Amino acid sequence: MTSVDKNEAMNQLTSILLLFSASLLAACNLPSKQTQPEAAKGQGSPDFSRDPHSYSNPEQIKVRHLDLDLQVSFEKKTLEGSATLTVERASASDSAPLVLDTQDLKIARVEAAQGSAPFQPASFTLGAPDKILGASLTIQLPPTADRVRIHYSSSPTAAALQWLTPAQTAGKTHPFLFSQSQAIYARTWIPLQDTPSVRLTYAATIRTPQDRRALMSAENDPHAQRSGEYRFKMTQPIPSYLIALAVGDLVFKPLGERTGVYAEPAMAAKAAKEFEDTEKMLVATEKLYGPYRWGRYDLLVLPPSFPYGGMENPRLTFATPTIIAGNKSLVSLVAHELAHSWSGNLVTNATWSDFWLNEGFTSYVTQRIIEAVYGAERAAMEEVLERQELMELLRTLPEADQVLHINLTGRDPEEGVTDIPYAKGAAFLRHLEKAYGRARCDSFVRSYFDHFAFQSIRTSDFVNYLNQHLIAPAAAAGGPSVPVDEWIYKPGIPASASQPSSPVFTKVEQQAQEWLSGQLPATKLHTGKWSYHEWQHFLRSLPTPLPKERMAQLDTSFHFSQSGNAEILHQWLLMAIRNDYAPAYPKLEEFLVSVGRRKFLRPLYTELVKTEGGRQRALSIYRKARPGYHPIAVATVDEILKWKEASGN
Ligand code: BES
Ligand code: ZN
Repeated sequence: MTSVDKNEAMNQLTSILLLFSASLLAACNLPSKQTQPEAAKGQGSPDFSRDPHSYSNPEQIKVRHLDLDLQVSFEKKTLEGSATLTVERASASDSAPLVLDTQDLKIARVEAAQGSAPFQPASFTLGAPDKILGASLTIQLPPTADRVRIHYSSSPTAAALQWLTPAQTAGKTHPFLFSQSQAIYARTWIPLQDTPSVRLTYAATIRTPQDRRALMSAENDPHAQRSGEYRFKMTQPIPSYLIALAVGDLVFKPLGERTGVYAEPAMAAKAAKEFEDTEKMLVATEKLYGPYRWGRYDLLVLPPSFPYGGMENPRLTFATPTIIAGNKSLVSLVAHELAHSWSGNLVTNATWSDFWLNEGFTSYVTQRIIEAVYGAERAAMEEVLERQELMELLRTLPEADQVLHINLTGRDPEEGVTDIPYAKGAAFLRHLEKAYGRARCDSFVRSYFDHFAFQSIRTSDFVNYLNQHLIAPAAAAGGPSVPVDEWIYKPGIPASASQPSSPVFTKVEQQAQEWLSGQLPATKLHTGKWSYHEWQHFLRSLPTPLPKERMAQLDTSFHFSQSGNAEILHQWLLMAIRNDYAPAYPKLEEFLVSVGRRKFLRPLYTELVKTEGGRQRALSIYRKARPGYHPIAVATVDEILKWKEASGN
């Protein structure tokens, strides 16, 4: 063979192997790591075909309902029991196996049944585990079977679950457990079709030690007795990432007719005061976008290791205690999670590539709620702060990740969680509002929520609906033109995007300038009535580097190192690291050891590792902090610090 022939032969062999592995993957229903063929849809938009983050085969067989029966063991750090799935085949004659998603689950046995007939053993295989996706669970079912019961237990290291010792809670007396299923961690505590394209109802029996109360993203009875056996029902179909559980020493405080807050006894009164406007927010949102469809809206305040600010678990938002600032300055987080009751929970992203449909709409709706409840001035300040963060991010983020409809094939969905879906998504909707007028745009958004209620949709579904119901009717009357494709499929922000502005912030900038130029000492600045937002803007307006004496002047005058507002403290600590302002380091350590919210951890550790001294400080802090972080936060910080657990670094 000549070398050309040899190459030819090799190429052929490679193609055959590729074809073979592709068909093998298809046969096993495994998502291929290679780029999926792009089904051109709508205006030439990519749709990345099926959900690349699930092994499941809902196009053949769908899970409609889940019955959970779980024993919570704080000693073993496991959930143990069964998940009974009610399934529905697309075609009655089909005999395709049921493929589920799992990660780190111990499967004891599987059974299947038809109707009310007794369960019979069913054979199953667990696929090889993938680091991101976990392992497929393939269950052979008779074509007529419509119920499947999986007996299993979760692993003590399940990524969704955090098992807290009493010392890690506010009350210090009871252990605490909570889950975080979004994006693809539900599979670490329940075997199911873990894709947001599948919606299911659920019921659950949760058995706990008797002195603890269990809550779920379902109907919770605020007046339930502590019995150690709790029953829940979610009768509206939701995606798997919204299934949630918490167990701890929790009490309830009502806020309004349909709203309330659960917290540890030590936190309950403070939380109820901070969130007292929740009912007003609910009413304001209904006025804009139609009835709240989930019955009650309650909040659950978690211990400070909760890795997110908030999580929109239906009927029961999970929230970090770091938003309790004492003056309601950070309650836009409540507005945000409440807004998800329309954008996200009612109309859901079908894949994580469509995540901006959840978060962009929600960020936009949040600003509308804030405007309705606290006025246009505060809403404008929050919009400016959000836009600043977006512009900052756009300076460094790879272009492929600056698009709203992002390709996440072969990647962790976490990689799509940036300010792009949130702030760029919201800016797009703001652009539509400006272009078509508030009244018209509001009625469009409201009809969009109604039209797609309880459905999971793609970006292309939104684009088609937008074209039909807003753009085309207006175009017929010579309406405006909005670069929709550019917003969704191109990097950056279109030049025609409107620029948010806040006159209040202009005054803050003037004050910052006067201090920087030496015209006024810090103590003489007109800061008397400044809100959290003005302080935040003030700090962000200051340049880097800032001499240590200047940092000290600020700290002596305004006591930033002692701030009870976690956002201000976080901003100040970032500045302290950038300017090597040592007096703030004890506070930095205290903050990083006590708070596990990823929004704060990521920037602080990232800033620290930029210098060798900082890296050493980060490692020394992390050694103490790591055992208290949630697995999701641990994964993030391990990556930043290149932490290797075995060596202990
Ligand atoms: N659903 C998100 C949290 C989330 C996103 C968890 C992706 C896992 C994967 C929640 O609604 C959210 O956006 N939280 C923000 C709140 C903020 C933008 C007001 C957070 O946690 O910081
Ligand atoms: Zn959100």
